[in-house]
Amino acid sequence: MARSPALAAFVGLMGDALADALPASHAGHRTGQRMRQALSRPATAGFHLQPHSLPVCAHLPAALQTLREAPLPQARHWADAIAALVPALAWQRSERAGSQAFHAGHANTQVVGPQGLEQRSDLVLGASLLAPHTVYPDHSHPPEEIYRVLSDGDWYRAETGWTTPGIGGSVHHPPGILHAMRAGPRPLLAVWCLWVGDAGAPSA
Ligand SMILES: [Fe+2]
Repeated sequence: MARSPALAAFVGLMGDALADALPASHAGHRTGQRMRQALSRPATAGFHLQPHSLPVCAHLPAALQTLREAPLPQARHWADAIAALVPALAWQRSERAGSQAFHAGHANTQVVGPQGLEQRSDLVLGASLLAPHTVYPDHSHPPEEIYRVLSDGDWYRAETGWTTPGIGGSVHHPPGILHAMRAGPRPLLAVWCLWVGDAGAPSA
């Protein structure tokens, strides 16, 4: 299918991010390359959820404004690409267990994937938003995952503890590793890609 200009811009930025997210010596480097190569080939359009917003999405404009003002070459392009996609996005709450504050304070959306604007099963590309002071609790999943961080916020991995990658940073989660994230006084915004291959459809 032909990608819309907004989708093409978003996928292009993510492809570039995945290509340089991890150094060549990193265990996840090859996965980033595979993701980017897969994304270079548009898949067919298919079933897509109706656009849907959640109350937590009221924090998205502030997150995008902070991103737009960040001193990084791609920051404004990311903000513009996400803003252009927003009218088509279906934001959903995770079904995983968590506090009431977590469920009220987070949203995920698939941009590419089984429920994405572009339907495919080899990977899932999406975004997550956390309201200020919200914790996305410990979780793990079989697919390997690479994030591009687009806001302030902290990230947890079982073997490294909490870190703060900052806007433009990258986070890699090997298959099955326990991880979490939390927003400070500002919303947390991040985009992510899960490499599914033949493992089946995951959740972020
Ligand atoms: Fe995850």
